[in-house]
Amino acid sequence: MIKSIRLRFIFWYTLILAVTFSAFAFVLYFHVSTSLKNELDDVLLTKAEGIARSINTYWDTEKMDALRHGARKNVFSKINNSNFLKIAGRWVEERSNDAELMDISVQIYKPDGKLIASSPNAPPELNISEKILPVLVTRKTFYEDRHIPVAQDAFLDLRVLQIPVLENGKAAYIVQVAAPLESIWTALQGLKFILFLLLPVTVVLASMFAGEFLASITLKPLKAMIGTARQITAENMSLRIPPPETKDEIRQLAETFNDMLEKIHRVLISQKQFIQDVSHELRTPLTIMRGELEVALKRPRSPEEYGAILQSNLDEVMKIAKLLEELLALARLDNSTTGLTREPTNITTLMRDILDDMGILARQKGIGIEFTFRDEITAPLDRDKIMRAFINLLDNAIKYTHDNGKIAVDVRRDDSGAIITVSDTGIGIPEPDLPRIFDRFYQVDKSRSSAGFGLGLSIAKAIIDAHGGSIRVASDQSQGTTFLISLPMEGHNPR
Ligand SMILES: Nc1ncnc2c1ncn2[C@@H]1O[C@H](COP(=O)(O)OP(=O)(O)OP(=O)(O)O)[C@@H](O)[C@H]1O
Ligand SMILES: [Mg+2]
Repeated sequence: MIKSIRLRFIFWYTLILAVTFSAFAFVLYFHVSTSLKNELDDVLLTKAEGIARSINTYWDTEKMDALRHGARKNVFSKINNSNFLKIAGRWVEERSNDAELMDISVQIYKPDGKLIASSPNAPPELNISEKILPVLVTRKTFYEDRHIPVAQDAFLDLRVLQIPVLENGKAAYIVQVAAPLESIWTALQGLKFILFLLLPVTVVLASMFAGEFLASITLKPLKAMIGTARQITAENMSLRIPPPETKDEIRQLAETFNDMLEKIHRVLISQKQFIQDVSHELRTPLTIMRGELEVALKRPRSPEEYGAILQSNLDEVMKIAKLLEELLALARLDNSTTGLTREPTNITTLMRDILDDMGILARQKGIGIEFTFRDEITAPLDRDKIMRAFINLLDNAIKYTHDNGKIAVDVRRDDSGAIITVSDTGIGIPEPDLPRIFDRFYQVDKSRSSAGFGLGLSIAKAIIDAHGGSIRVASDQSQGTTFLISLPMEGHNPR
């Protein structure tokens, strides 16, 4: 098989062109050869009829003369009339050299096939075939191709026409005209040479050049793309393929390719960022632990001091464990192979359970939680995961609301499924931060949320996305924050 697109292109282009042109050549050749022959046949017929008319005129003049000299009417039959033979002979002698007859030879025969007269250019070997004599009267015209030997190994090819000239329904004499087929053959030979030799060669050469040319202009942008694509590595992911000016498929390909690069680039950047964030989050507790341990080891300490240091270290270890646990949870949600364990879950009941647990935390800050629901809604959910998502949201609401603030949770149903809103009267989120709060490790203000890692919302979003739902946020720094979650009632996994 041909491997390169360019060669395949040229090959098919040439083949299709060659097939089309051969078909065209055959049709043309066939058409020209038949019409040349038909034309010759028409010329022969016109000549033969003209000759017959002319001979009859000669004969009529002769008849007039004879009548004037008192001849009887019934001797004027041409059949077996020696006078007529003379007249016919005279016509051939006088007229057969006329310019209009040129290379057409003329012979006149009696109805029984005996030659009456013959033009000088008629080949002596040309006679009339016996077998056509009986049919001539009914056929009116009789065409033949004759292959006549004229010398040793030399032949003359003739197109021959015989017509009977009738008198009272009987053949009085026969006019035979013949023209050499050679001129047609020479013409056809020339045509053949052009059509079957010159044309194929030209077509093949032209299509090779044209194919090569077309292939090169269509494939040039591809080559440029290959070149650019080769230069792209993890280090210079910002390189893009310059899309060609044309608005064709190649441009689409370039654009698609660039889109893909863009996505990969973004993933790479966020991966890098993620690793940086993780390292950073791990470094803080480790630095604290290290400092405390070093200080502790400087000199012997009282059991109470050791206890305090160990307790502090345990806190940091717990923090690291929590971080790792959350990262693991995120990684699991990212991994499409581990799906959700769905079961029909009553969302209203679920929310009430969560609020029972979280209520303790809220009460410590004097925050009241108001729960309203308009519908009992059951949806196929991964209960543990959904619980975790809402716990993260309520944890935030409590964390970022001043003492004695308010939290409202509302559950209702709409066309698309269950709608849950969690709103608080807390400190709110500045407008510019809103698009980023679902990002991993993103925190509006590190100092105001020192306890967390900034993973809570990204975990909640990942869980809701996995359920095919969506989460949106609206916030006003003077009024508080509202999260709006929608969960579909049908349990189809989005990925
Ligand atoms: N209800 C809210 N009111 C005000 N700000 C909020 C609220 N919820 C989230 N935020 C802001 O969004 C940031 C991201 O929230 P997220 O829950 O992801 O992280 P976190 O609460 O800081 O830490 P973690 O949840 O990992 O313990 C928070 O740091 C906080 O600034
Ligand atoms: Mg949080």
